[in-house]
Amino acid sequence: MENNKRPESMARITTKALADSFISEQVKLLKKQVGSKKVLLALSGGVDSSVVAALLIKAIGKQLVCVHVNHGLLRKGEPEQVVEVFRNQMNANLVYVDAVDRFLTKLENVSDPEKKRKIIGAEFIRVFEEEARKLDGIEFLAQGTIYPDIIESVGVKAHHNVGGLPDDLKFELVEPLKFLYKDEVRVVGSALGLPDGMVYRQPFPGPGLGVRCLGAITRDRLEAVRESDAILREEFAKHGLEGKVWQYFTAVPDFKSVGVKDGARTFAYPVIIRAVNTTDAMTATIEEIPYELLKHITKRITTEVKGVNRVLYDLTPKPSGTIEWE
Ligand code: XMP
Repeated sequence: MENNKRPESMARITTKALADSFISEQVKLLKKQVGSKKVLLALSGGVDSSVVAALLIKAIGKQLVCVHVNHGLLRKGEPEQVVEVFRNQMNANLVYVDAVDRFLTKLENVSDPEKKRKIIGAEFIRVFEEEARKLDGIEFLAQGTIYPDIIESVGVKAHHNVGGLPDDLKFELVEPLKFLYKDEVRVVGSALGLPDGMVYRQPFPGPGLGVRCLGAITRDRLEAVRESDAILREEFAKHGLEGKVWQYFTAVPDFKSVGVKDGARTFAYPVIIRAVNTTDAMTATIEEIPYELLKHITKRITTEVKGVNRVLYDLTPKPSGTIEWE
């Protein structure tokens, strides 16, 4: 456990200069640890895995193999951004796996939230494992473990979003962020040149939009979640709420109700808006979105998102709700 304790002498990384010196130190250490061997990384595009990727690309370039699994449950534009930033701009060795059909088939008719989570987690490991077996000469597995992961799960090595791999796929772990707090990871990510939209994004659950597409996931409702979430995020950004509100998203339940459009009856889904503030995610309060903005977002969602005829605004704090709507 000794090497899982943040050194007391380690200064808090709050500025670009401190981040730069952390980066050059880590680049040296990573080169020493890895030598001329290859490293594998599951790159979701979230803050932690993106910063690990950028750091390893700087240290060992194409010896890093990033695997991005698109499970179909990511937000609008995210898989494209991973390819653009890492393959096109940073020239990384990136394997892009389109596993959308595979995940959605596995999830067909599964409505229990815990079962959905288990399927998504297990399928992710399976896809990642298959990709790992296709590659030769990999000796290391990089993970975006950060210090709160270690503190919160004493004795558990795995990063919160990555489960275990089979025993015959034994890799030495590379965890360059393991002593950093989230705010430090963001400063390091910016210093490595990652876009703000990637480094300062709001929390996003591992099972992604699968959590927010309530009940058994269907493609039409999944697209309604993705499109309405994109509208909400765009409007929050336009109105200066991005970076101020802790977490905001939409959810789509699995029931329809009657509405009307162009004089004709519709039978379609509602979209639920949720926006909360918290410091530790254990309790949360509601962000009071201005009414004019709510009305504008409602208008956009009901006119632009297919299969939706109502918008609801969730006023429930945590407790009694959870932050997610699953
Ligand atoms: P709840 O809904 O339990 O969520 O109040 C608390 C916070 O945790 C996030 N969350 C997750 N984060 N993997 C993650 O990394 C997950 O499986 C997961 N599920 C929930 C949630 O978005 C909220 O910020």
